[in-house]
Amino acid sequence: MTFHDKTALVVGGTGGAGNAIARTLAARGERVILTSRDAGRATDAAARLGQGHLGLPLDLTRPDAIVDALSGLGQVDHLVLSAVERDQNTIHRYDIAAAQRAVGLKLVGYATVAAALADRFALAASIVLVGGIAVERPYPGSTSISTINGGVRGLTRTLAVELSPVRVNAVHPGAIADTEAFSKAPKAMLDRILERTPEGRLVETDDIARAVLFLLDAPGVNGVDFLVDGGYHLC
Ligand SMILES: NC(=O)c1ccc[n+]([C@@H]2O[C@H](COP(=O)([O-])OP(=O)(O)OC[C@H]3O[C@@H](n4cnc5c(N)ncnc54)[C@H](OP(=O)(O)O)[C@@H]3O)[C@@H](O)[C@H]2O)c1
Repeated sequence: MTFHDKTALVVGGTGGAGNAIARTLAARGERVILTSRDAGRATDAAARLGQGHLGLPLDLTRPDAIVDALSGLGQVDHLVLSAVERDQNTIHRYDIAAAQRAVGLKLVGYATVAAALADRFALAASIVLVGGIAVERPYPGSTSISTINGGVRGLTRTLAVELSPVRVNAVHPGAIADTEAFSKAPKAMLDRILERTPEGRLVETDDIARAVLFLLDAPGVNGVDFLVDGGYHLC
């Protein structure tokens, strides 16, 4: 492969897993365009990937602005949707505004990015959406997150049909050890997750990046949910 013969867009490329994915794609020679809500943060993160990469401001909670924000992009070979804003919502103390924001970001925001780029995907393009294991293993406080990740499953499947022949898959990470979200989680919760993880370790951002690369590259794999949780969903 010649350097930069493929273009990858990583939405949410400044955060833990998204940034690991952006770094991995850049390291193998793809031209990476990564996004952040903040133009400066996006530019800085892109510069850290090396020369020729680009940082773009994009706010998925403002779907009306997404088409314009992506209008300067050419053909896209790989799209990874990893952005998130967390919502610790419970059904007993339901925060409607927070729920609407979180649901809108992933479900309307991810779909709007795919719609905006629909005519610009290369013939052998592929897409990976990032959900989360809360779809399989809900916990008190995951009301929005579990719902959203179920939506990611549905969105993945319909995009695979609607954007054919572009392949579309989803990765559902377990608790990712080296992320900011993980560092804020209560220790008792993390110990409980570890006890129930057959692999005996929590996943890391590099594990997520490897899984994403596999899905981006694997012909014949289409419309699947890929759980990257060390087997936590089993126990
Ligand atoms: N961390 C975990 O343990 C865990 C577990 C299960 C699933 N996941 C999933 O894995 C993915 C990555 O999680 P992470 O913890 O690594 O991410 P993170 O560090 O929280 O980063 C989130 C990313 O989303 C961007 N972002 C935030 N709000 C946005 C908005 N309104 N519009 C567009 N972009 C926005 C952030 O960019 P700026 O802040 O620069 O704007 C950042 O790049 C997410 O989809 C998450 O749901 C994570």
